[in-house]
Amino acid sequence: GPGRPQKGLAFGAISPQPAARDAFVVPDGYRWRPVIRWGDPILRGAQPFDVARQTPEAQARQFGYNNDYLDILPFERQHALAGAQGRGKGPGRGTRGLLVANHEYTNPAIMFDASYDAATRRAIERAAHGLSVVEVRRRRTGTPWDYVADSRYNRRVHMTTEFRLTGPAAGSDLVRTVADPSGTRVLGTLNNCAGGTTPWGTVLSGEENYNGYFRTSGAGHDARYGLRDAATGYGWELDDPRFDARNPGYENEPNRFGWIVEIDPYAPDEPPVKHTALGRFKHEGANVILSRRGNAVAYMGDDERFDYVYKFVSSRTMRQGNSDGARRHNKTLLTEGSLYVARFTGDSPAAEIDGSGAVPSDGAFDGRGEWVPLVVDGRSAVPGMSLEEVLVFTRVAADQVGATKMDRPEDVEPNPVTGRVYVACTNNTSRGPAAVEAATEPNPRHTNRDGHVVEIVEDRDDAASLTFRWNLLLVAGDPATNASTYFSGYPKEKVSPISCPDNLAFDAEGNLWISTDGQPSTIQKCDGLFKVTLDGRERGRVEQFLSVPRGAETCGPLVDSTDRMVYVAVQHPGEDGSFDAQASFFPDYLTPGTPVPTGAFAGPRPSVVQVWRD
Ligand code: FEO
Ligand code: CA
Ligand code: CA
Ligand code: CA
Repeated sequence: GPGRPQKGLAFGAISPQPAARDAFVVPDGYRWRPVIRWGDPILRGAQPFDVARQTPEAQARQFGYNNDYLDILPFERQHALAGAQGRGKGPGRGTRGLLVANHEYTNPAIMFDASYDAATRRAIERAAHGLSVVEVRRRRTGTPWDYVADSRYNRRVHMTTEFRLTGPAAGSDLVRTVADPSGTRVLGTLNNCAGGTTPWGTVLSGEENYNGYFRTSGAGHDARYGLRDAATGYGWELDDPRFDARNPGYENEPNRFGWIVEIDPYAPDEPPVKHTALGRFKHEGANVILSRRGNAVAYMGDDERFDYVYKFVSSRTMRQGNSDGARRHNKTLLTEGSLYVARFTGDSPAAEIDGSGAVPSDGAFDGRGEWVPLVVDGRSAVPGMSLEEVLVFTRVAADQVGATKMDRPEDVEPNPVTGRVYVACTNNTSRGPAAVEAATEPNPRHTNRDGHVVEIVEDRDDAASLTFRWNLLLVAGDPATNASTYFSGYPKEKVSPISCPDNLAFDAEGNLWISTDGQPSTIQKCDGLFKVTLDGRERGRVEQFLSVPRGAETCGPLVDSTDRMVYVAVQHPGEDGSFDAQASFFPDYLTPGTPVPTGAFAGPRPSVVQVWRD
C-alpha cells in the first residue's frame, strides 16, 4: 500500500561545477525547466519577446530582468494565511499559485544589440526593473508548472507604478518633492533584491542599491548612502529630472527609495506601499515572524561592508483569520512600531580573535547580544535626531548608538520551525587591522572573501526579546584549500565547498538552505543552492543541491519539501559576456549552428526555474 511520505527532500550532493560551465545542474533523479523567463508576456495584449524589437511598452507587459526574490503563494488566500507560520514557503500541494518575483537591475551590454539608441535602451531598462506577479498552474501536485499569460492577477510593477508611503516619515519635509508636495506618493521602486512573505500573505521586497540611480549634490548624509555628484551608470538623469537631485524641487527624490516595499498579490488593483517605519538603508530584504504576543517582527540586513542587522517590532498584533477586515488590519502592522539595531558581544579572549579564523579556545565563535533601540513605540530613541530623521537616515542613527559592524549582512531570516534567526554575511574583503575595523568574534576573519552565517537565539524564544545569544553556524569557503573554514564542528572533508552566502530559506523539516552569489571569484565554482543540517550530530553538514550557469547568482530559493519541488531565480546568467559574444545560453540552450527560431534569443535570459523529482 502507499507508504508514509518520505520525510524531507532526498538527494545526493552534486559536484561543484567549474566557474566557466554554462549549465544548470541538478542531482540524479531530478529534472528542471524554467517557469518564466525575462521577456515572457504576462499582461493582456503583451507582445511575445523579440530581442531585436523590444520597446518600453512591450517590456512593461513582459516579465522583467534579473529576478531575485521569489515565492509562489497558494492561489486561495486562506491557504497562504493558514500555512504561513510553521510551513516552508511555497504553494503547497495545490495546482494553482501566484508567483511573485523581484527584478533587481539590468545588464544592457548583453540585453541589446547595436541597433538601439541609448534613450530607448534606458526606457526599456526602466520597464524591466521592479516586480512581477504571475499566476501559475499545473495538472497535479509534484509536477512542473506553467505560467498563465492572461490571468487577472498578473501584474507588472516598474518605474511608473504609483506607491504609497506609509508610517511616521510619510508626508514629512524629508520626502516631499515638487512633483509630490504631499510626500506620500512615489513613482517606482529600485534595485529590489531579496524579500520575504508575511504571515498574512503579502510579499515584502528590499530596495537595495538605489544610490546607483541618482546624481546628487553629495552634501549632508549622501556619502553615508553612497550618493555622489557624478554621472550614474544607468544615465537616467538624462531622461527625467527626478534622477538628478541637484535639480531644484527634487533634492529629496533619493529619500523616497531605500525602503521595504509591501505588495498584496491577492489584491491586483491595490497600490503597493513603502514602509518608512522599517527605516531606510540598502535593504536586502525583510522576513517576518510573530512574537509570543503576536506582534509582527521583521528581521533585516543592510548589505554594505561594515553595516548593520536590524529588527522592527510592530506596535499592534496580527489578527487571525482571513476576513477582509483582518487582512486590512494586518496590512497596517508595518506602519507603526519600534526599530532596533543589533549589537553582538563575543565571549572569547580578544587575543584569540586574530583574523585567522582559528576557532577560539572556548570552542566556538559565540556570545550575547542586544537589540539597541532607534525608535520605541513611534518615538525617536536617538539623541539629537527626530523620528523622521532616524527613519530616513537610519544608518546615521545606528552609527550613533554603537551597533556592530558586520560583513555585508544579506538575508536575515527566522526559521519558522525553531524561531532561531540566521544572518548571511556574504563577504567583506575590506576587514583587517589597517581598515575600518579588524576581525571581531562575530566577524572573525580579515579579508573575509567567503563570508559566514550567524545564528541568533532570542532570549525566552521570543522574537520581541531585546537580548539574545548568538554563534557562528558556518565560516564559509573551500575547506580543501582554506584552513579558516568552520562548519560547527562537522567534519570538513564531508561538506560541499560553499562561499558568499546570500539568500536563505527553510524547508518544512527546519533545514536551512543557502543560495550563493560570488563563488566564481572566490572558490572558482559556479554559484549554487546548498542544504545545511542545523540539528543533531550532522549540524553543519553542507550538501550542494544545484548549480547555476556561468556568471549567474542563485536567488530566491524556495524549497517545498512536502511537494518535493525546489525553485530558484537565476539572476544575471552570462553577465561577463557581450551581445555579440554571449557567455551563456541559459535557459533555452539553442544548438550552435542551427537556425534560431523566430523571436528566440541566442543569449541568456534570467529565469525562474523549477526542479522536480523525476
Ligand atoms: Fe542584491 Fe545584497 O544583494
Ligand atoms: Ca566564544
Ligand atoms: Ca542578495
Ligand atoms: Ca549578493
